Amino acid sequence: MLQVQNINVSYGSIHAIHDVSLEVHEGEIVSLIGANGAGKTTILHTISGLKRPDSGSIVLEGHDLVKTDPPKILTLGMAHVPEGRRVFQRLTVQENLELGAYILKDKDQIQELMAEVYRRFPRLDERRKQLAGTLSGGEQQMLATGRAMMTGAKMILMDEPSMGLSPLLVKDIFRIIEDLNDQGKTILLVEQNAKMALSIADRAYVLETGKIVMSGDAHDLLEDDKVRKAYLGA
Ligand SMILES: Nc1ncnc2c1ncn2[C@@H]1O[C@H](COP(=O)(O)OP(=O)(O)OP(=O)(O)O)[C@@H](O)[C@H]1O
Ligand SMILES: [Mg+2]
Repeated sequence: MLQVQNINVSYGSIHAIHDVSLEVHEGEIVSLIGANGAGKTTILHTISGLKRPDSGSIVLEGHDLVKTDPPKILTLGMAHVPEGRRVFQRLTVQENLELGAYILKDKDQIQELMAEVYRRFPRLDERRKQLAGTLSGGEQQMLATGRAMMTGAKMILMDEPSMGLSPLLVKDIFRIIEDLNDQGKTILLVEQNAKMALSIADRAYVLETGKIVMSGDAHDLLEDDKVRKAYLGA
């Protein structure tokens, strides 16, 4: 579904991403794990068109994303839940969700998606009129995820959904990611919480200072000595 081939990405003279290649097949959960500053967010920004690579190719179902602007990428069926949630603080829960659906025209479809988000996140349902800026961190993560669901996207890029959440909410958010996948969404998940990210993924990639150093079946990586030492505190 998504093929990233040999991308290089820089910020001025800083070469942040070196020849990274990765693939996500339809229906998969693929995790990209790595320490602070490894380049995880940069890769997601490059896939969703917010940052351009110096070289390499990114193809989503035959569409060349390197030549496509971010709103168009969204209409191709790929949504991005950014790091640090980034909900519209001064808008209500309901308004944030409505904005998520801005690329859709079919009112019935929007209503159905909205009902689905509220079914999945009862806490948001109870807070429809509450300003997003007054939600707790976990609730804001739910809203950011709900907003991505409102795009009707087939594929969702998620940047550290567990950041700053209590262990209980981390479990909830990972369960929701698995549910979305069961419903047919394809997921590329970026996480520092390697243990959780590997335990829900089909396959995974390990990123170190801008390079992929390991990849494979997520359960194999979970058992791998090097991964355990470096990322699982074993
Ligand atoms: N706008 C920017 N300008 C200059 N350098 C940047 C910029 N954004 C990121 N970088 C650098 O690129 C590298 C990769 O950063 P990135 O945010 O992609 O890492 P990350 O893996 O997402 O880290 P974290 O886990 O802390 O979110 C870092 O060295 C960072 O300092
Ligand atoms: Mg990041």
